[in-house]
Amino acid sequence: MVRKIVLITGVTRGLGRAMADELVRQGHTVLGCGRSQKGIEQLGRQFGSPHDFSVVDVASDEEVKAWAGRLLGAYTPPDLVLNNAGVINRNARLWEVPEREFSRVIDVNIKGAANVIRHFVPAMVKRKRGVIVNFSSGWGRSTDEEVAPYCATKWAIEGLTQAFAQELPSGMAAVALNPGIINTDMLQSCFGGSASGYLLPAEWAKRAVPYLLNLSPGDNGKQLTAPGG
Ligand SMILES: NC(=O)c1ccc[n+]([C@@H]2O[C@H](COP(=O)([O-])OP(=O)(O)OC[C@H]3O[C@@H](n4cnc5c(N)ncnc54)[C@H](OP(=O)(O)O)[C@@H]3O)[C@@H](O)[C@H]2O)c1
Repeated sequence: MVRKIVLITGVTRGLGRAMADELVRQGHTVLGCGRSQKGIEQLGRQFGSPHDFSVVDVASDEEVKAWAGRLLGAYTPPDLVLNNAGVINRNARLWEVPEREFSRVIDVNIKGAANVIRHFVPAMVKRKRGVIVNFSSGWGRSTDEEVAPYCATKWAIEGLTQAFAQELPSGMAAVALNPGIINTDMLQSCFGGSASGYLLPAEWAKRAVPYLLNLSPGDNGKQLTAPGG
């Protein structure tokens, strides 16, 4: 088996955490970040070296820059980047969403992915190797009421990914991934009680992780949907 270095943003909960658990179980090296100090410390205790977990807010270009500088000094550039960190607005009609909350959804979901690309992808381009997966959503390809800010960011991720894919050298790939519908904190926020009818992240990751590890340069620019969601 080829052991890969996988960078995951938003690794403390939900899909990011489940992907980290599954990747470590399969023998890959996980480099992860999240904002919660407690969650990151817990991961560090559970999975020591060669894995690495850091408190980083992806919305901060400076924090991502420092994180990338440290990791690229210590590891070869990632084989797989999972731009997974994301937030959703509390259910509300667009005109009821406070400006701060709207900005935060944009800053994390769009600028966060761009910050990671800005600071990690140059080292990957140098080697002409690696796959970048930008987490989209069903709501990056369709819409619903009360989640307009979130829909805006995921439609943006689809466009950003397609343009970015055209810029990559052959040997690399960027894809937009709709993970499906999985019972996480985010789903509970937008679906309420009916979230409990959906698959749990650990179950989802058993099928999604092998699928992600198999992505190749031939997938560049594709709009994909994960199996199992
Ligand atoms: N669950 C679904 O059904 C579903 C459906 C479609 C798309 N998605 C997408 O899949 C991805 C994961 O969603 P999820 O359901 O796992 O969400 P979640 O349960 O809310 O977890 C989100 C993760 O992102 C981290 N995060 C949030 N803001 C961050 C920031 N500024 N910097 C770094 N980390 C940050 C959170 O950790 P901290 O709080 O520690 O930062 C957490 O680890 C998202 O991009 C989401 O839009 C999910």
